Amino acid sequence: MAAVRPVPHVYSSRQSLLVSGEGQRFTAAAMMQCPPFQKRRVVSMGLSEQGPSVAIVGVTGAVGQEFLSVLSERDFPYRNLKLLASKRSAGKQITFEGREIVIEELTEDSFHGIDVALFSAGGSISKKFGPIAVHKGSVVVDNSSAFRMDEGIPLVIPEVNSDAMSHIKLSNKKGALIANPNCSTIICLMAATPLHRHAKVRRMVVSTYQAASGAGAAAMAELEQQTREVLEGKPPTCNIFQRQYAFNLFSHNSAVMQNGYNEEEMKLVKETKKIWSDPDVKVTATCIRVPVMRAHAESINLQFEKPLDEDTARQLLRQAAGVVLIDDRASNNFPTPLEVSNKDDVAVGRVRHDISQEGNHGLDIFVCGDQIRKGAALNAVQIAEKLL
Ligand SMILES: NC(=O)c1ccc[n+]([C@@H]2O[C@H](COP(=O)([O-])OP(=O)(O)OC[C@H]3O[C@@H](n4cnc5c(N)ncnc54)[C@H](OP(=O)(O)O)[C@@H]3O)[C@@H](O)[C@H]2O)c1
Repeated sequence: MAAVRPVPHVYSSRQSLLVSGEGQRFTAAAMMQCPPFQKRRVVSMGLSEQGPSVAIVGVTGAVGQEFLSVLSERDFPYRNLKLLASKRSAGKQITFEGREIVIEELTEDSFHGIDVALFSAGGSISKKFGPIAVHKGSVVVDNSSAFRMDEGIPLVIPEVNSDAMSHIKLSNKKGALIANPNCSTIICLMAATPLHRHAKVRRMVVSTYQAASGAGAAAMAELEQQTREVLEGKPPTCNIFQRQYAFNLFSHNSAVMQNGYNEEEMKLVKETKKIWSDPDVKVTATCIRVPVMRAHAESINLQFEKPLDEDTARQLLRQAAGVVLIDDRASNNFPTPLEVSNKDDVAVGRVRHDISQEGNHGLDIFVCGDQIRKGAALNAVQIAEKLL
């Protein structure tokens, strides 16, 4: 049986799955460099007779691999773990915590006896197999955009609106679907929500700087390959984005809609309204792909209904779960994608009064978050933890 080929490993935590012991060493080293981040627990995922039976759909992908990493680190209890991907990967094996697990092909029969199914294999797979899994009694946590805006399907960031899924429990033994928001939305709202709760956001202007990892394992590999090719004076291989990505940046690769916004931008607009249960909040966004391997950055301009000064905003961010403040003006030290890569917390800095707005009604902030982690796998596992 062939083993699964790792994606660019320097920037990925998937080594912790494929090479025993590596994850622990990497995490410890990264933590030493970044004192503001909370110590991450590195423990074994808990085999437990009482735990749910878990399936991962899309386990060979960027998010799928991160699922394994996050489940393991958070000691998520499980009775059984089923790894699913396409026909291409069926039969390959993944070494996970010292055990070799064979990847199975996703089929309509895959969900028999599965309590929790973590999906990250794209929208069309979710649309087809999500309802099948629910019918079999599984609670599906879906990373794609297939169901996010459907009425009656909770769209959840646990730190922000976990009450939206309070009616769904594994003990009910009923299938259900819960949607994970778009990665840019999660990172944005992790930072904006503590401020919104205090002073109510009226309008939000978001500009993103999005990493290759947001487009999956193949995009990360292509950025690495292109970088090497350009430095060697060769023409870059352009399979994923159809243009040069290394040493370049461009408007987000999602489809541009009739109103001139691309789909990624409209996800930020619509999902914010749903998660905050606030149809009146005004949101606009510009989403850009930058040649960063992993972790998104976002510049966010906020207009508030009530006054909110910089010091209070910093205090609110310091106290917010899952947020770390890096805001050192004297040494010009603010969040970077590299610093948040493989980290759970979203980092916020550049907290400043927006001088274009009257009084204390406007703030600018800069946010960085690992979108494979908090923007996808970690958020989904946190949702699954709420079900236990
Ligand atoms: N990357 C991110 O940061 C991010 C963040 C939030 C949400 N998401 C969403 O998560 C999903 C996966 O993203 P990704 O970045 O992990 O993509 P990826 O690296 O390209 O991985 C795609 C996964 O889907 C599997 N797959 C493809 N076709 C399949 C089929 N017919 N049956 C079963 N499995 C199939 C692949 O398996 P094979 O290896 O066998 O082809 C692979 O495991 C997408 O919906 C994406 O929008 C991604």
